Amino acid sequence: MQFSKSFFLFSVAISFFAKSQESIPYLQKKGTATQLMVDKKPFLILGGELGNSSASSFQDIERDFPKLHKMQLNTVLVPAYWDLIEAGEGKYDFSLIDKSIEQARKNDLKVVFLWFGSYKNSMSCYAPLWFKKDYKKYPRAYSKGGKPLEIASSFSDNVLKADNKAFSELMKHIASVDKTQGTVIMVQVENEIGMLEGARDHSKEANKIFNAQVPENLIKFLNINKKDLHPSLLEKWGKQGFKTKGNWEEIFGADLYTDELFTAYSYGLYIEKLAKTSRSIYNLPLYVNAAMNSRNRQPGEYPAGGPLAHLIDIWHASAPTIDILAPDLYDGDFASWSAKYRLHNNPLFVPEIKMTQNNGVQAFYAFGEHDAIGYSPFSIENNSEAGSKRLADAYSKLKQLMPLLTKYQGKGASKGLLFDQKSPERIINYDDLKITARHFFSLPWDARSKDGSVWPEGGGLILRLAKDEYIVAGSGIVVEFEKETEKKIIQAKDLGEDGFATQGGKEKSQSVWNGGLRAGIGPVDEIGLDENGNFKYIRRLNGDQTHQGRHIRIGVDDFQILHVKLYEYQ
Ligand code: DGJ
Repeated sequence: MQFSKSFFLFSVAISFFAKSQESIPYLQKKGTATQLMVDKKPFLILGGELGNSSASSFQDIERDFPKLHKMQLNTVLVPAYWDLIEAGEGKYDFSLIDKSIEQARKNDLKVVFLWFGSYKNSMSCYAPLWFKKDYKKYPRAYSKGGKPLEIASSFSDNVLKADNKAFSELMKHIASVDKTQGTVIMVQVENEIGMLEGARDHSKEANKIFNAQVPENLIKFLNINKKDLHPSLLEKWGKQGFKTKGNWEEIFGADLYTDELFTAYSYGLYIEKLAKTSRSIYNLPLYVNAAMNSRNRQPGEYPAGGPLAHLIDIWHASAPTIDILAPDLYDGDFASWSAKYRLHNNPLFVPEIKMTQNNGVQAFYAFGEHDAIGYSPFSIENNSEAGSKRLADAYSKLKQLMPLLTKYQGKGASKGLLFDQKSPERIINYDDLKITARHFFSLPWDARSKDGSVWPEGGGLILRLAKDEYIVAGSGIVVEFEKETEKKIIQAKDLGEDGFATQGGKEKSQSVWNGGLRAGIGPVDEIGLDENGNFKYIRRLNGDQTHQGRHIRIGVDDFQILHVKLYEYQ
């Protein structure tokens, strides 16, 4: 009896342990994609980040979280403020953390905590007052002109120790309250770390290290990964003859961008200490976020040395425990900024993006084009009524698509669509099939194609299920299918004076049917998906809704998921 009772308790403990292990989120590779696994299933973060001060009172948290649920978010990004967690040195208060977790569970949300520790947008404003006041113990970074900055020096052991201790207490607390439930799925270490008013710290300590040999660890990393280095770093190092011994200026040249490399490496080392601590306590995925080097600014005008794409190798060498370098995107042109961060060695996660009416289509684009891990507009609780509705429409469709999209991730089966007036069309080729997708307003008979009105971004994704079967989803798009092989290749001698072939003296076109197979649009169904990814028929679209079989389309005011079958004819 005694034996069986203790055996029972032992097995409960084992299964409890196994269960708790099961619910810890992790990252895994699938083909070319990296997937965030939550409750052992691939998960797409349909997120929103709270404004900086919105998780500092119970009242705000209780008011805002239900709004996020209504907006169909599945994840909220929440600041964890060092100054409120450790207002008195060594005395910790996690009540705001607990309140966020409680409200998240109530509203069916996962949480990503953002450690606002020593660094918040380069500055040290979230360090507690006892830390700020004791600037002899916790020294500041210095400008080139010798001015102490409102930025703690990352070269100080005391700064690192204090920050790391508070962060480790936070991670212990999260593990103790959440390990079995897995509400917290990822952690951001610091916020937009980087140096301002110059590209590096000019304190005595920093100068000494800057003028010493570049660490062997970095040189080794660069040599091993030489063929995969970011082109800008390869070029910079190459200009100095790929030297392997010397100080920073000898190896990389004497300019502002070398100062920035040094800052990136130093901040990377600092972050690595926190990341390792966190990993040893509770093994959640970790990322760092970057303020962009946009608008032709120089390092130091933007936060220099942050986890920016051109510094990825430096960050990988100095902070290998960090899983993702994530861009905060506030400067428009989502397609080109997001492409800079979807690299062979970095998955795309957009933790912050300017809140606009276009967030929904951009989210579709991020998942369709880049197999993104997540997307998250900033200051989400302040979304307008119209903006909230539009985001909810987009996220509710993406939620349904999640099992299907994640099943096909990493195989190159999906493409993103994102259109505006400057970029109204995209052509996608699969074998002999040519797919032309465009903005809804670019249809020639649509008055708005020419009347000068500003188009909302249109976009979505195309997922290829089979040669003749596609999912087209999003908003404000039109898609046509055509066989490349159906066209006659016209010889110069067959062309008219204007360079075009003439058909029946009327229509002029370079493409003449050559007798080959043509692509026809078969059934087009608007569908929903259940939680296992099974299709649920909503309605058949035909006639005017497919321009009598010529194309498929989704209007600018709707988000839809369409299931399309093609056929061939002659
Ligand atoms: C980026 C920062 O990471 C956020 O915390 C916030 O300060 C926004 N900028 C404001 O635009």
